[in-house]
Amino acid sequence: MKTWTAKKIRLLKGQSKIVCLTAYDYTMARLVDESGVQLVLVGDSLATTMLGYDTTLPVTIDEMLHHTAAVVRGTEEALVVADLPFMSYQVSEEQALTTAGRFIKEAGADAVKIEGGAFRAPVVRRLVQNGIPVLGHIGLMPQSVKEVGGYRVQGRDDSQAEALCCDAEALADAGVFALVLECVPASLGSRLTEAVDVPTIGIGAGPGCDGQILVTHDLLGLTLTRTPKFVKPYAQLGETIRSALGAYAREVLDGSFPDGERSY
Ligand code: KIV
Repeated sequence: MKTWTAKKIRLLKGQSKIVCLTAYDYTMARLVDESGVQLVLVGDSLATTMLGYDTTLPVTIDEMLHHTAAVVRGTEEALVVADLPFMSYQVSEEQALTTAGRFIKEAGADAVKIEGGAFRAPVVRRLVQNGIPVLGHIGLMPQSVKEVGGYRVQGRDDSQAEALCCDAEALADAGVFALVLECVPASLGSRLTEAVDVPTIGIGAGPGCDGQILVTHDLLGLTLTRTPKFVKPYAQLGETIRSALGAYAREVLDGSFPDGERSY
């Protein structure tokens, strides 16, 4: 059994902050796991980050299973949560259970994440009753980008904020072990955190959340497109890679690589 289970993460509320990151492959999973995070998310953000799509919508169950299995192989301590991709759980409770079951059985995930508010509570209940821990996700929900019309801060007005409180409470009642809050004002992040007895994991939701998650590529400076305001770049690996690759190319062209030391 892993050091971090869904139950243990749930119990961190009020005890200590929860550190979460994304990973999509074996190498990054090992590095992320060794950094001491409690939760690794195989986010459907891999559609944009790894596969070059404009949105998360096109990524398939098989692609997500393939990446999730690689992350599981690279993770010893952290809980591995797999994002269920668009239209793999929305059709019916049966579809959600079948898809989530594949991530647990075939890829070895420890839990799944699904987007949606109070209306998603019956699906959460069904998965949890069948032994599958669920991470909820409200606020900005990238799988709804076509309906919402873009990626923007959610819950700015009172009625939206009220609706998000109802969503958070309904999901907590249904049994999520934690709840991602994406792109909401910091004051609402704190209010939602106080409203529920499960940990909130913020991404662009302010410092009042019980934990934080970022897309690892964003914080490492590996994302080649524009990143949102809430991202803090802790490194500029894109630049480091560019310069290393450029140096290699120059040395191959001028014949200085490989030298005697690198030859048999
Ligand atoms: O897909 C993802 O990476 C996510 C996180 C940003 C929460 O959903």
